[in-house]
Amino acid sequence: MPPPAVPAPEDVSRAQERFPGATLEKLALGRETYLTNCSGCHHLYPARKHTPEEWAKTIPEMAKRAKLTPEQQELILTYLATMSTRPRTDPVAAGRTPG
Ligand code: HEC
Repeated sequence: MPPPAVPAPEDVSRAQERFPGATLEKLALGRETYLTNCSGCHHLYPARKHTPEEWAKTIPEMAKRAKLTPEQQELILTYLATMSTRPRTDPVAAGRTPG
């Protein structure tokens, strides 16, 4: 299982579509908060495993188990919902010459 993806500047505008206050700092903090609080009982699920809608349902449930503050819950949701919709870089397409 690769470590959870590190948010990049190009993720920020996608994050802001759902979370208007999102910044790169908040995404990075969401990742840290996810690593710290969500790995105690099971492995860290990849963001892509669930849709943003599914994360919005699951995270409040898991927040109770992980005893998160509302702020931590929001950071983790912002991170996971955003990274779940990150476009895949297609290695085949990337290697192709145009035309
Ligand atoms: C105290 C233990 C505990 C902590 C902490 C915890 N979880 Fe869970 N989690 C569980 C258990 C147990 C299940 C499976 C049973 C269930 O769904 O109720 C589960 C299931 C899940 C699932 C569904 C399983 C799947 O295949 O996708 C997701 C997603 C998830 N957790 C995410 C999180 C996130 C995000 C956090 C951090 C906010 C977190 N968990 C923290 C105990 C925990």
